[in-house]
Amino acid sequence: MTELKICKSFKKIGLAALMLFHLNLFGVPTEGHQFQISAPSPYAVEVAQKIHKMGGNVVDIAVSVGLTLSVTSPYYAALGGGGFALVKMNDEVPMALDFREVAPLEAGPDFYTKKPKRSSQDGGSAIGVPGSPMGLYELHKKYGKLPWKTLFGRPIDLADNGFHLSGEWATKTSGQKDRFNDAGKKYFFKTEDKTYLPGELFKQPQLAKALKAYRNLGPKGFYQGSVAKDLVKTIQKAGGVISEEDLAKYKVRWLQPIKTTYKGYNVYLMPPPSSGGVVIAQALSMMEELKLSEKPYLSVDELHFLAEIESRSFRSRALLADPDFHENPISQLLNEKSIKKLAQGISKIKARPLKPIDEEKYLKESSETTHFTVMDAKGNAVSITTTLNGNYGSGIVSDRYGIALNNEMDDFTTHPGEPNMYGLIQGQSNKVEPGKRPLSSMSPTLVTKDDKTILALGAPGGPRIISGVLQVLYRVLGRQMDLDRAVQAPRLHHQFLPNVLYVDEQSFSPLVLNALKLRGHKIEEGWMGKVYAVQKDKDGLLKAAFDHRGEGASGGY
Ligand code: DON
Repeated sequence: MTELKICKSFKKIGLAALMLFHLNLFGVPTEGHQFQISAPSPYAVEVAQKIHKMGGNVVDIAVSVGLTLSVTSPYYAALGGGGFALVKMNDEVPMALDFREVAPLEAGPDFYTKKPKRSSQDGGSAIGVPGSPMGLYELHKKYGKLPWKTLFGRPIDLADNGFHLSGEWATKTSGQKDRFNDAGKKYFFKTEDKTYLPGELFKQPQLAKALKAYRNLGPKGFYQGSVAKDLVKTIQKAGGVISEEDLAKYKVRWLQPIKTTYKGYNVYLMPPPSSGGVVIAQALSMMEELKLSEKPYLSVDELHFLAEIESRSFRSRALLADPDFHENPISQLLNEKSIKKLAQGISKIKARPLKPIDEEKYLKESSETTHFTVMDAKGNAVSITTTLNGNYGSGIVSDRYGIALNNEMDDFTTHPGEPNMYGLIQGQSNKVEPGKRPLSSMSPTLVTKDDKTILALGAPGGPRIISGVLQVLYRVLGRQMDLDRAVQAPRLHHQFLPNVLYVDEQSFSPLVLNALKLRGHKIEEGWMGKVYAVQKDKDGLLKAAFDHRGEGASGGY
């Protein structure tokens, strides 16, 4: 049995990491019978194994992993971000937890229109009220088994006594010099011009203090008191408007997941404010309608239909937004008649881009994230995607505690008609409003058979999350591919606008790409999302796989 699988770039860290972990570099994917985790860092796997040995359940593991990543991977997992979780515990129906950032009370639809384009991406005005600390707390409150404080042991130790930096940490941090505020430069750079190197021991005593306040006082240790004051002071100094009232008012929401069926499996997906669930449900239904899995694997036919299905499903995104502010036409988008109509409009021989969706008609009728997945033998599972949006979010780091803050406001329609950081042109439903959550693509997903979880997955990658999760679901459930093969398999991405078919770099033959061009697809090579997944096979064996497109680790017992 493999305990830990570790990705190629981590091999470079060498001895320091080898001393810390029991490594097996060759198991693909890792397997076990008690629990498995797939996550972006080997520290996550180490902590998961520790919490499991202490008798923790998958929620205890997920919360402690979330805290650990806030120390080891601040560029996408700092406490100043937010996210979503899909959870299935104790044979109950799966539930979705929304701990996404919200717009500050002072921000309205015109907040950005007269500001420069980058004001929703850089600096204080880009920051939404963070949700991660409340999210982890509420998740534990509902389902956790071990005492709250126990989950902070290793994360605080890693902050106080240090951890060995990965290649990813060094790369993601060194490029931030011109975006960071003074605190960012102070905490994440050695000197003004000197960056830390992979393998070096890195300590964050200031962050350990914030974690101790959060451990001792629960969310009050973050949303009130000295950590909150430090956040507000830092944000306002950087031109933002988040107040102590904004922080004190932050709440999570428990939501019913979107449920669809594909090939006899129940697929539970993230509902709005994520667009992921609706888009994936539409795409899976079209795949079934068009019998996509009967086409030869990676053939021009399969890829052509996949691209057209993705483009049509992404088109619906324009109609979605925070359910507290907007009526989402979910049943209209997912009913059999509209799926059939969309699917039958796809031509076998030619790409046929549709016109943008008529938002009025429907309204009248009615670059950094991470993911980790944990599952146990009983089918309890947690799938969590957290994000600061871009790398280190807004580039603003809190002065006293070194907490990196998100730039999630860029996920709103900040400048109507113009693309955001991920090239998405968004609908008017997603305009900025005080206390509203921006539309997301994050798609933590669970699949059940006979009410037991058999697959849990998710990914970072902005809109590429949706196409990544979709293609792994399709390949595992529709084509019965082995999990690891399905995760590593070449992928494509079409988000409707721009009308471009992005394909994995150096993964498709020129003959296939030319044939797709002849069918009218405009092709560009590009990056894809990184999927982290755990599967339970029919013999009860748990398998964990992570995407070799980036760093990651998997393991368990
Ligand atoms: O919620 C969203 O859709 C984005 N903020 C996610 C950003 C993301 O995945 C960045 N990862 N590479």
